[in-house]
Order: sequence, then structure tokens, then C-alpha cells
Amino acid sequence: MKAKVRAHANIALIKYWGKEDEVLAIPNNSSLSLTLDKFYTETEVEFSSEFTSDEFYLNGVKDDATLSKVSNFTDLFRKLKGINDRVIVRSVNYVPTAAGLASSASAFAALGKAINVSLDLNLSDEELSTYVRQGSGSATRSLYGGLVQWTKGNSHESSKAVRIDPANFDIGMVVVIVNSKEKKISSREGMKQTVLTSPFYPAWPSEAEKDLDLMKVAIKNQDLEAIGKIAENNALKMHATMMAANPAIIYMEEKSMQAIRLVHELRAEGITAYFTMDAGPNVKIICQLSQAEVIKAKLLKEFNEEEIIVTGVGPDASII
Ligand code: ADP
Ligand code: DP6
Repeated sequence: MKAKVRAHANIALIKYWGKEDEVLAIPNNSSLSLTLDKFYTETEVEFSSEFTSDEFYLNGVKDDATLSKVSNFTDLFRKLKGINDRVIVRSVNYVPTAAGLASSASAFAALGKAINVSLDLNLSDEELSTYVRQGSGSATRSLYGGLVQWTKGNSHESSKAVRIDPANFDIGMVVVIVNSKEKKISSREGMKQTVLTSPFYPAWPSEAEKDLDLMKVAIKNQDLEAIGKIAENNALKMHATMMAANPAIIYMEEKSMQAIRLVHELRAEGITAYFTMDAGPNVKIICQLSQAEVIKAKLLKEFNEEEIIVTGVGPDASII
């Protein structure tokens, strides 16, 4: 009853922001992401009837703050299997934790898949995504490589993720690590506060759905210019919506704006470069992977080598 899985982080090109159902984690809008090869989580689980309590270790250190989240998530699968065995979970993040670089996405995809394997549940990836969703919404999309859509749905069974394109074209991201410290407001809290207090929130779900339709056409045409444009506009609409919350939610920092200025300069120089940002100050530049080094060279004029990570498209979550 032991298994180890690696799942890659994903960055949304069309963002998920806000839940319709907090308990089932049904979102207010569908979303779409690109899985990244450089950032991932490896999680090992072991169930035993001899263990007396659940335990969770993150990066080799016992993490009691996250334990209840991990235990509650595991309960979904214990219930499905009809067992009460306790679990020991050992997880390592090859991505900064809680810094807007999607650690919760790779984390819950890896944990869910490892549980699926170790308990012999034989859930398909689509079915598994409906459970993983309850660990963290964005994790549904980290079960797959390439470009992945999480369809909003309106029930536990229908709110699920599928790969829509393997992304076998010249696409990548240059990630500018503006700050890798744990953020003050988690995505979960941030989106809740936005739904409750932002006067602009009512416009968000329909804007996101419109952007998703446009994005799917752009992906079909492998039109990177359009993909970048739609993604950047979608991210800015999400940030504008949360900035209007009360109290305001501002994840951008001075250095985020500095990176954004450099993206604009790159565009003026004729390079396809668009940015997206999540619940954190880090800036992700969508580009042709073949031009990533040119983009990095430009960024190096104002950022350090360690602050810039070039990444291509990541694969499906897999057993290791
Ligand atoms: P991020 O931007 O990194 O996804 P979130 O606030 O969405 O930040 O999620 C971070 C939270 O996810 C952490 O505080 C922790 O509760 C959980 N988490 C991160 N890594 C792991 C892991 N490897 N296993 C289980 N839970 C994790
Ligand atoms: C801005 O998936 O971390 O990255 O479902 O509450 O765990 P919970 O939230 P989470 O939120 C991700 C928000 C985002 C956009 C996205 O990834 O789609």
C-alpha cells in the first residue's frame, strides 16, 4: 500500500478565481493551463492499519500545519475504498511553496494520484480530477501534461479536467522569481474575499468563459501571439477584480512591474512575449521556447541569474 508519484505544476492561461460551491470546490468559471516541466512535486504515500495517526512531511520536515488538509483530502479516498487505515505522506516540492508558483497544484495532483495507485482505486485521470479538485482546484489540471482545461461543471462528477492539446509546438515560459517567500493571502482566502467584496466580480466569470473560447481557437491555430494576448488580458482582468476587493488584494510588487516593463520592451523589439501572474508577485512570460534565451538575456540586464527560470511543457503526472 505504497506509491510515489511526480506531478508537474501548471500555470493558468485562463484563470480560475472564485468558487460557486466551497464544499465541493466547484468554480465559478472554467479555466485552462499549461503544465511546466521545471516545477514539480514528488509525493510518496504509505497506508497501514498499524499506523495510529496520519503524518505529513514536507521537504523532509514534519508539517503539522498542512496535516489537516492532507488528512481531510485522504479521507475522500478512504471513504471510497471503505477503509480507515492511517497514512504517512512524504512530499518534496521542486517549486517554491505558496509563492504563486502553483505548489498546491502539483502537490494535490501528486498526492491524489499516489493514493489512487496505492489503494488500487483504478480511477481514470478524469475521475481522479474530481477528487483532486477538493484538495486544490488548480490541481485538477496538474494530472496532465500539455494544455489542460478544467471544465466548471455543476456537480462533483461534472467539474473535471482533461487535456485539450499536447502543446507540441514552440511554446514555453520564462518565470521571473520576484519573491519566493510564502504569500500573506492564500489563493483560497484571496478568491473568497474577491467573490464577497469586489464590485467587479460579477463580470469575471463571463469574461473568463469568453476568453476561454478565444483561447481554444488560438491553441487550435497554434497562434502564440493570440495565446499570449488573451492570457495577459485575462490575468490583468483577474488582478483588477481582486484589487477592487475590500480590503484590496494586491499581489504585485515593484519588481513585478519592472518585469512587466521589460516584457513591453521585448514586444517593441518584435519578440512575442506576454505575461501572466497568479496569486503572488512572480511574473511568467509566455513565449516561443526557442526565443527564451533571448528573453532571458534581456531580463539579465535587471534581474539576477537565479531569479530567471526557463521552462518548457511538462508531462502527465506519473508513477516513479
Ligand atoms: P501556491 O501559489 O504555491 O499554489 P497556495 O496558497 O495555492 O500557493 O497553496 C499553498 C498551500 O498548498 C500550502 O500552504 C500547503 O497547505 C499546500 N501544499 C504545498 N505543497 C504541498 C505538498 N507538497 N503537499 C501537500 N500540500 C502542499
Ligand atoms: C490564481 O487552486 O490554489 O493560480 O482551489 O482554493 O486550492 P484552491 O485554490 P488554487 O487557486 C489557483 C488560483 C490561480 C489561478 C489558477 O491557477 O487557475
